[in-house]
Amino acid sequence: MGLEFDDAFIQAEEHRPKPYISEAGGIPVIDLSPIIAGEEEAFSGLVAEVGSACKNWGFFQVINHGIDGEVLERIHAAAREFFALPLEEKRRVRRGEDNPLGYYDAENTKNVRDWKEVFDFVTNESAELPATEEPGEKRTDVFSNQWPEYPPEFRDVCQEYSKEVEKLAYKLLELISLSLGLSAKRLSSFFKDDMNFIRLNHYPPCPEPQLALGVGRHKDGGALTILFQDDVGGLDVRRKNDGEWVRVKPIQNSFIINVGDIIQVWSNDAYESVEHRVSVNSERERFSIPFFFNPAHYTNIKPLEELTSEENPARYEEYNWGQFFKARKNSNFKKLGKENVQIYHFKKALLAN
Ligand code: OGA
Ligand code: NI
Repeated sequence: MGLEFDDAFIQAEEHRPKPYISEAGGIPVIDLSPIIAGEEEAFSGLVAEVGSACKNWGFFQVINHGIDGEVLERIHAAAREFFALPLEEKRRVRRGEDNPLGYYDAENTKNVRDWKEVFDFVTNESAELPATEEPGEKRTDVFSNQWPEYPPEFRDVCQEYSKEVEKLAYKLLELISLSLGLSAKRLSSFFKDDMNFIRLNHYPPCPEPQLALGVGRHKDGGALTILFQDDVGGLDVRRKNDGEWVRVKPIQNSFIINVGDIIQVWSNDAYESVEHRVSVNSERERFSIPFFFNPAHYTNIKPLEELTSEENPARYEEYNWGQFFKARKNSNFKKLGKENVQIYHFKKALLAN
């Protein structure tokens, strides 16, 4: 039995998708072949393209990124096979209060249930997180991946994918660093003990696509997201210049990249983490696979000194990434009846100039 529609999925009227969402005038497409081919004379043009995409959209698509199409096909196939298993089989690797990794079909975004099922794993097999959301918590818990028995190649395929996408993440991070006027490796050290995780998303056909969303509107809390999507489409991005929702047009063998909250804070708002959501449809199921590029839990996030000055003072108080992540996870898990943690909660009250 799959998801059954009920009131828990119904979005407030102002957040429901319009019946038609345009794909026109969408996010920029950037060809990464210069970095794959090592054509150094083309680097500065590429850096400028990445910089303007981050500034104007917070989102872009990359093509010719160096990851073989077969790697994408293998993980797509593994996701299809896993989600096609009977519910009781999937629930054997179910996420619980004691382990946030594994299968789950009842996630909320902003206190409304998402029309989706997910499988989460970390690229390092285990992850450390603060034991509680209390500020200054020193104790940590360690969580390990839960791998299903079927399909048998599932684990290998997921690990192969994670290695490839991680390499791409570092390349993109270098381009973003350069585009901010920093040295290429300036941001890399934050990821020494990374907490990267990958989510397989399955959005089944939905009987009420005008009332529900696959994922409600949100911003990604990590540094950078690298998303693979199939050819169905449904990812909507809030266009910065007019606030309209635009649909990201699927391009075969491409990835969608978006700046997360951490880059927004590091860059002191030069780049913003942009709101997005997933619309569903009544005919076709959809699969997507985000990779969330995250620093270690102990990392404290604040605007980088090189990017602040007397005229452009730091706009955020420092916050701990592990605490932030933990608070987000808890609110996705339980219906809290209040807003979950957001970076603007750390925004400084600056004097108007
Ligand atoms: C997410 C997300 C988009 C998609 O999981 O954070 O935004 O297309 N997913 O599945
Ligand atoms: Ni997202």
